[in-house]
This record gives sequence, C-alpha cells and structure tokens, in this order.
Amino acid sequence: MQDKINQIQQTAEHAVDACTALEEIEQQRVRFLGKKGEVTLLFQHLKNVPVEEKPQAGVLINTLKDHIHNILQLKKERLETAQLEKQLLSESIDVTLPGQNSGFGKIHPLNRTLHELVDIFHSLGFSIAHGPEIETEYYNFDALNIPSYHPARDMQDTFFLENGMVLRTHTSPVQIRVMENKKPPVRIIAPGRVYRNEAINYKSYCLFHQIEGFYVDSAVSFAELKGVLAFVIREFFGKETQFRIRPSYFPFTEPSLECDIMVKGKSGWMEILGAGMIHPQVLKSVGYDPQQVQGYAFGMGIERITMLRYGIDDIRLLYDNDLRFLAQF
Ligand code: PHE
Repeated sequence: MQDKINQIQQTAEHAVDACTALEEIEQQRVRFLGKKGEVTLLFQHLKNVPVEEKPQAGVLINTLKDHIHNILQLKKERLETAQLEKQLLSESIDVTLPGQNSGFGKIHPLNRTLHELVDIFHSLGFSIAHGPEIETEYYNFDALNIPSYHPARDMQDTFFLENGMVLRTHTSPVQIRVMENKKPPVRIIAPGRVYRNEAINYKSYCLFHQIEGFYVDSAVSFAELKGVLAFVIREFFGKETQFRIRPSYFPFTEPSLECDIMVKGKSGWMEILGAGMIHPQVLKSVGYDPQQVQGYAFGMGIERITMLRYGIDDIRLLYDNDLRFLAQF
C-alpha cells in the first residue's frame, strides 16, 4: 500500500507540474480525485487491507488526497496569475515611447501670394468682390468690348460649355457685375480662378488665378494707376524692385499697358500684369456716363508672381500637390 501511495504521489506531482493551462488542471483533478480517480480507487482497495493496518492506511490515503488537492490548487493559482499578467501587459501603454508625429500643414504658396496681395490692396482701401467661374459670353466678352469677331474668342483660348456658357478666361467680368450693381465710387479687387484652353507646359496651365482690380470715380487718372501699381510691387517684391510699363492693347481699356518687373538675381524683364483706363464703351455698358466718371483697371497673374518670388520654374508644380515641393514653403 505504501509503495502504491508513493507511486501515485510522484505521478501526480509530475503531471500537475507539466500543466500549462487551466483545462489541464481540471483533467488531472479528475484523473486522481474524480469518482473513478486513482486516489478514490485506493479507498475501495482498503477493504482488502488487513484489519490492523486499516487505520494507518486510511490516514495515508487521506494525506495523499489532501496533498494532490493542494498542489492542484497551487498550480491553478499560478496559471491564473500568469494569464492576468499577460493580459495586463498587452493592454498597457508604454508612456515612455516617442509620440507619433502627424506633421504640420502649411499654406499653399499660391494662397500665400493671394493673401499678401489682398492685404496690400486692403491697406489702399480696396474691397473684395467675387464672381462666378462659369460665365455668360456677355460678361466674359461683350460687355468688355470684345466683339464676337475678336481673336480672344478663338476656340484655342476659351472653354465653351454645352449650355452656351463659358469658363471665364479672366476676372474682368467681375468688373461688369460689380459696376452694374453699384454707383461710383467703386474701388474693388476680385481674386479668383480663370481657365484657358491652352497647351499645358512649364509656363501655362489650363487654369490659373488672377486678381482683378479697378477704381471708378469722378477724377481718376492714369498717374494714380501708375502710383498704385508701383506701391503694390514695392510692398510685395521689396523696395529695390525695378518695374517698367509698356504700351499694350486690351479691348476694355484705353490706353492700355503691361507692366514688367526685374527681380533681383534674375536676368530680364518679366511681365506680371495688364492694366489701363477703363474703355468708355465698357462704362456705357454698365450704365455709367463716361463724361462724368473715369476709372482704371488691372489684372495680375498670381501664378506668375508666385513663381517669380519663390524661383519656381514650372507652373505645374503648383498643381501637383507633391509634398516634397509644398513642404519647402
Ligand atoms: N483681363 C486681362 C487679361 O486677362 C488683364 C487686364 C485686366 C487688363 C484689367 C487690363 C485691365 O489678360
């Protein structure tokens, strides 16, 4: 009997020690202490033991039973603790790890130019107006003294829509829309997108931005136009920037001019805007009396100005949304 008890005790200790999961503990409990378990069977063998040895044998089997019960309980608690630790570890955050950086956004170079120019014009007393990008031919052309036979209406330049409308080719139609609704004096700038059906290359794109500006009052002079342009150019590009104006032609201004600037470190003159005194025909088309009021107008290309300022040599970079390019500003 003693040998049998020793043998069961050893087997049980090894088996319990080898358990790696709670289910296995339960299996071992059934194996030794269950209804048909090895220890339970020992009690049944008691009846074959001689009477004088019975009490002692009973004590031994009970001790074995308690022992196995204890080591099962101990192993169970150890496995539970290990499981809990594993769970806690997987749920915890290491607060000493470096944070995840999501990076800062920046203002697009075109918008920077736009905002700065708008601020400069604000300081001169100009207010902002907006007009639609889908325009009628009347506002984009006729009212601006561009008759239907004018080359600017050529299919090459204008996106014509199926419903007879056009994508505005310049911001000048906003002049007409504002003047139709407001009596002089008007002093307005109109920034926005314009579209041209041109071959796309390093210096032209199918869409770009302009700022239109105009001032109409009872005594507006060409000299004032020149002064305003000089002020804006020097504020934006710096006091040393040289500029020149050349005679030009636009159907909606008379006389007309184009303005070039010489940016430090760049050779040659670069054209940045067209301007002139608003044509009497245009004033008439909005119901103004050209004998009573005059005005000047100008339109400047934002892409051109941005490229000159930052030394960008391909207009398409401004529309590619390539972070390697945009992060430089
Ligand atoms: N609308 C002209 C253009 O797009 C620019 C301009 C505006 C010229 C106002 C004169 C007066 O080229």
